[in-house]
Amino acid sequence: MSIEEVINFKFEKAFDKLGYDTKFATVKGSDRPDLSDFQCNGALALAKPLGKNPREIATNIVENLKFDEDFEKISIDGPGFINVSLSSGFIAQNINTIAADKKFGVNNNPSPLNVILDFGGPNVAKAMHVGHLRSGVIGESVQRLMRFAGNNVTSDVHLGDWGTPMGMIIAEIENEGIDAFALNVQEITNVYKKASAICKEDDKARENARIVTAKLQDGDEKYRKIWQYIRDASVADVKENYERLDVHFDLFLGESDVHEICAEILEIAKSKGILEHDDGAYIIRLDEGNKPKPPVILQKSDGGYTYHTTDIATILMRVRDLKAQEIIYFTDARQNFHFEQVFEATEKLGIAPSVKLKHVGFGTVNGADGKPFKTRDGGVMNLSDLIDLSKDKVAESMPEPSEEYNKGYIDNLINQVAIAAIKFQDLKNNIASGYVFELDDFAKFEGKTGPYIQYAIARINSILRKSAETGSNSISDNTTFVITNKEERDLALKIMQLNNAVNRAVNETEPSVLSDYTYNLAQSFSSFYNASPIKDAESAEIAQSRLKIAKLTRDILVLMLDLLGIEAPEVMLKRGAPATANDI
Ligand code: ARG
Repeated sequence: MSIEEVINFKFEKAFDKLGYDTKFATVKGSDRPDLSDFQCNGALALAKPLGKNPREIATNIVENLKFDEDFEKISIDGPGFINVSLSSGFIAQNINTIAADKKFGVNNNPSPLNVILDFGGPNVAKAMHVGHLRSGVIGESVQRLMRFAGNNVTSDVHLGDWGTPMGMIIAEIENEGIDAFALNVQEITNVYKKASAICKEDDKARENARIVTAKLQDGDEKYRKIWQYIRDASVADVKENYERLDVHFDLFLGESDVHEICAEILEIAKSKGILEHDDGAYIIRLDEGNKPKPPVILQKSDGGYTYHTTDIATILMRVRDLKAQEIIYFTDARQNFHFEQVFEATEKLGIAPSVKLKHVGFGTVNGADGKPFKTRDGGVMNLSDLIDLSKDKVAESMPEPSEEYNKGYIDNLINQVAIAAIKFQDLKNNIASGYVFELDDFAKFEGKTGPYIQYAIARINSILRKSAETGSNSISDNTTFVITNKEERDLALKIMQLNNAVNRAVNETEPSVLSDYTYNLAQSFSSFYNASPIKDAESAEIAQSRLKIAKLTRDILVLMLDLLGIEAPEVMLKRGAPATANDI
């Protein structure tokens, strides 16, 4: 049970005894943490229905709880807020329980769902850009988080491999007489760029690309062979990119994999009586309500299926074959409306009854000019260049290789820190908001950054290592935690909020709840450590107790970084600091 649940339970019992509706017994973290740990505002909510003074109600409740030894203080403030502070003994006991638990007191989802996470979404033949970076980074974190919370998660990259861009590139290959099978990924991307520029200008070329797309989808053998080659080359490249980012998928399916099901979707629409023939195309109309909503085009007049159709067909496949109970999509918020349409059409088709469909739309990654991030020459910044940029930045603050830390070690460290910088920046703010890509800021070793958390962890590692070396203060499973000062108490309370943070992050599909929590925990540790000497502690018991909470904090910070998709190096190094710069 989480700490909130334990306290809630106590309040509910008191409410129940007094004949008060227990739904008002909920407690929450205090609005004034300097005065109390938790508060309950139930007396105020009860005042009206009971026709009583809220302070009188609060007094009755407090009378029932004031002998509880787990509370150090319980008081009524203002018009009837009940404020509680926990006793040191109760907090210490909780920390001992959390430290003994593999999941640090985080509840397992009591009714785990089969969740499909649809993220990444790169397109064949197009270079991956920062939008695909965000989708990958957010999706990977949610994937780890939902698994940790006990769900059955399957991730699918949902490759864009079946739309008009495929027709454009094949048409260009044909027109120019290019040997498709000799192209490498970079060349494929270049052919696509050229083809797309031509199609923008030239109606006939566009029309031709459409015809090629339709033929490809229809099974033209020659086109399918070229397509397969291009797809394989792209997939290999995409995998490499995501590997560099430590982002992983269970399935590498794409739009093309549901081609057969697209036809089925049309049949279903027909049988439901919602398929309309409109200007040569097959469509489903959506309810307009108070704003006009364009219909969903299932099949264009040339026979080709659309981005909507492949998404709807994919839902059917996921429900039927993968037994999906929830599907969550992660894309740029500019696709919000696309998913609104897809979900509405899915509902009309009745193909995913009682399946939760959720789209998480994120903000764009911008340059200093506030516009979507571009390269210096105005092109789209591709993912792999972006990782290189970050590595170059981090390398500036890393020392030269030494006897103790060779080149391999330093290179690996640079990589870990660079990825931490990129990912933490991406996950530190509310997902719906965009951010400015500013490497100078997020590769810093202080402030709310990934490298700062990595340092905080390395610092605790060093503390633990040193105490183990001297042997005097080693801890065992039997070491008990005791509270001797305010900073210890604050750190312990922070640790007790872990379950709440993880649950909120899962329920809101919001990894930033975790990054916030992680940063605050690292800061609480820093205050604790400044106020609570270990080597010179008052007694051996206190030293051990402090080591115990230091280790617990380290373990939780490592777990939090892992849930954000970030590695925690054992040792961190910094240019200019001594070679064994463990004491930062
Ligand atoms: N390929 C798409 C794009 O680059 C993203 C795919 C997102 N997933 C989905 N099921 N539609 O915009």
